[in-house]
Amino acid sequence: MYAFGADPTLPKAELYRELIGAADALTAGESDGIANMANVAALVWQLLPELNWAGFYRVIGNELVLGPFCGKPACIRIPFGQGVCGTAAATGETQLVANVNTFPGHIACDAASRSELVVPLKRDGVVVAVIDLDAPREERFDVDDKAGIERLAQLLADRL
Ligand code: SME
Repeated sequence: MYAFGADPTLPKAELYRELIGAADALTAGESDGIANMANVAALVWQLLPELNWAGFYRVIGNELVLGPFCGKPACIRIPFGQGVCGTAAATGETQLVANVNTFPGHIACDAASRSELVVPLKRDGVVVAVIDLDAPREERFDVDDKAGIERLAQLLADRL
């Protein structure tokens, strides 16, 4: 059993330090990418407050395919360029969406979602997966969350 007990009321910088340290400890030396994504999805779900979905989509061919996650069952396949996840995959850029209702083509897997953060994971400059966080409150994510999840994505990119 692994117990990670960061206090969700910690300042964000500290919370992300804890999260990334724990993700490093969980994935270092493990070569199975699915296992690593599963543990990191669980870790993010456990440590970050106010989420209703946290997980991964993997790049397979020219679409994204659902990977390990926590939350409600979600859409399985997302073409590149569609929705928030497909936009992150197609552009290689983080998508920080304060209000999903204003994002053209947003795909509503969970009707409770109000804001979303999607960060691409790149290996040798190529997007291999995205990490997707959804929240039930508008403007849940800010630039500190973006920076923290981008650091997490960097750590994981060659552990998938
Ligand atoms: N909202 C995402 C789809 C994935 S779910 O949020 C889990 C999108 O627009 O790409």
